[in-house]
Amino acid sequence: MVGGAAFIVLELCLLTVHPYCFSCGPEFFQRVCTLLSVRPREEAERLASLLRLSGFTLLLSGELPRTTCLSVGRVLQLCGSNVDLILKPRKMSVKGAFALFRRKTQLHSLKLSNDMALLLGGWVRRWGVGRQVTVEELSLSPQTAQPSRRVLLKVVSSLASLLRYWAVRQLDLTEVCVPALGLTPLLLHDGPLKIKLSEKNVQQLLSLLHELQDQDLTWSFLSKFRGDLTSFSLNWELLHLLLQHPSAQTLTVNMRKNLFLQENVTRLLPYLDRIVFKRPCPSFVLAAIREIYKARASPIIPSLLRSLDHVINLTCREMSPMDCDALLYTLAHSDGVKLNLLWTSIPAWKTQSILLNLDKVSQLSVDRNLLLRLVHGCAASDAQQGAAESLLRTVQHRLDLSCSSCVELPEEDQRDTLLRLTAGDCRAVSSILRRSRRDTQLILQDCEVQDSGADLLFPVLHKVKLRASKAVLLQLVSLVPVNSERDRVGRAVSLCKALEAELDLSHCTLDQRACAALALMLDSCEELTELDLSHCQLTDQLLLTLSAQLHKVQVLDLSHNNITDASTDLLLQLVSANTVQLFGNNIVNRTSFEKDKKFEIW
Ligand SMILES: *[C@@H]1O[C@H](CO)[C@@H](O)[C@H](O)[C@H]1NC(C)=O
Ligand SMILES: *[C@@H]1O[C@H](CO)[C@@H](O)[C@H](O)[C@H]1NC(C)=O
Ligand SMILES: *[C@@H]1O[C@H](CO)[C@@H](O)[C@H](O)[C@H]1NC(C)=O
Ligand SMILES: *[C@@H]1O[C@H](CO)[C@@H](O)[C@H](O)[C@H]1NC(C)=O
Repeated sequence: MVGGAAFIVLELCLLTVHPYCFSCGPEFFQRVCTLLSVRPREEAERLASLLRLSGFTLLLSGELPRTTCLSVGRVLQLCGSNVDLILKPRKMSVKGAFALFRRKTQLHSLKLSNDMALLLGGWVRRWGVGRQVTVEELSLSPQTAQPSRRVLLKVVSSLASLLRYWAVRQLDLTEVCVPALGLTPLLLHDGPLKIKLSEKNVQQLLSLLHELQDQDLTWSFLSKFRGDLTSFSLNWELLHLLLQHPSAQTLTVNMRKNLFLQENVTRLLPYLDRIVFKRPCPSFVLAAIREIYKARASPIIPSLLRSLDHVINLTCREMSPMDCDALLYTLAHSDGVKLNLLWTSIPAWKTQSILLNLDKVSQLSVDRNLLLRLVHGCAASDAQQGAAESLLRTVQHRLDLSCSSCVELPEEDQRDTLLRLTAGDCRAVSSILRRSRRDTQLILQDCEVQDSGADLLFPVLHKVKLRASKAVLLQLVSLVPVNSERDRVGRAVSLCKALEAELDLSHCTLDQRACAALALMLDSCEELTELDLSHCQLTDQLLLTLSAQLHKVQVLDLSHNNITDASTDLLLQLVSANTVQLFGNNIVNRTSFEKDKKFEIW
């Protein structure tokens, strides 16, 4: 018996094949179904398991006799709504279609050849059957030869018939290009249906809508795309038509693809509550807030902010005093907005007013020059506490005076990346940090600090997580020794805390004075666990200066210095260290170090 033989093969598959290795291919299933009668439910269930093993993907092609359709139909009953069915047989009868979709059928997806779409469409039209078919996504498979326009129109009309009888959630036509006019029956389908079209097709459809000026068709179009027009280029007339539609559907448009939006902001203002801009450019944002300010149209501001996704991006703009007033007016009528002023130029005398409106801002992006000006503004403000708190909150407790925001600048502007902080700057930074209620990140990379300024930072270092250039770190270490013992300990402890127990002075040339200061610092603070002094030109003499305190450090890097055998005994006394790196020194006799694994010297 043929059926029996096929079942032996099938059992082998089920027993021995790991699901992910199952590679019989989608056609295999069709072959099995042709050989078997699956009348008994047990056998249908076995076939359903087989289908599960192949990831529920089922290709029906070639010649598809009614008996095979019957078998497949029975198996589909048992597979829930998991099956992805590709239906492109060379030959199948209407009776076959009957057999396949005879009962309640749920499919995850159904991909049809044009012929199948025509056959099934005709079938449901003629017999008014098929209401029991539910398909998550219906699509057309691309054809090898481009069908004629007439055929395509018939195919689309068949699809429209299927949509009337079947429950289809999404129609995917991205792989075929249907003439725009032919799409109208699909657009007019009333029911919750999402349609996916190729970009080219949508563009044609948009032009058609523009030509026809048909309200119903426009509404169908909008609802089928859920108002998402981000991938399309429109023009004002068409957008205007869509915006005027009584459906009040919100439209999302991509600003970069629709530069016409910037031509005249005024005409957009009445529609702001119905439009969302993706990738709005700063010049547009500025023009919009300017127009609103001129008209004193504060009630529109919430709509504007919603359409800008609550981001006011004015990066790289040169703001006139009037622009600043417009910004302030906007801020005054907003709440929780993100403000981007990276590389924005603002007249100095407007800084203070911006500070006072920061309570309306949830997040502020600024470059370091403007940040420093705002910090000065806080220090000079009558309402120091409030201004300082707002500023620190909006910059997420991160005072970044490094060059990280400069990376996008052209090369010639990057030459002068060092920011020189004067005593006045440090006083202002210190004054705002004193008012901070929580730890703040202070980033002084790419900065140079006047000695008198660095002194002013010590009183706030205990509230700070510090990242600084090595030169500034060395400078701070050198400023630890002061006359008063109490101050010295205070400075050392604050600095250790700000450094979060790690100090990296590698590649700094350490002299006697620096080593003495470092020794004093280590003396006063117990927390420093990692110290990197590689490439510091340390000699035996300098190491001796440090030696009394070095035993506290757990991870110590002394590699690439000028240490010799004379320091061996001293180094062996570093009892608490976990690792001491000593590569690249002038140590000749390594016998003593080889016994102890913590020394890395080879
Ligand atoms: C901009 O649009 C408004 C309103 O539609 C119109 O009154 C005005 O003339 C337009 N301005 C320009 C420069 O086209
Ligand atoms: C702000 O605008 C600039 C320039 O158009 C853009 O590169 C940047 O991604 C925008 N930033 C935000 C947060 O939208
Ligand atoms: C350290 O050694 C290098 C070469 O080994 C030498 O050029 C340099 O002058 C030495 N530095 C000191 C401070 O002795
Ligand atoms: C190397 O040091 C060990 C231990 O201090 C010592 O016993 C040995 O004699 C030294 N070797 C040389 C060649 O100096």
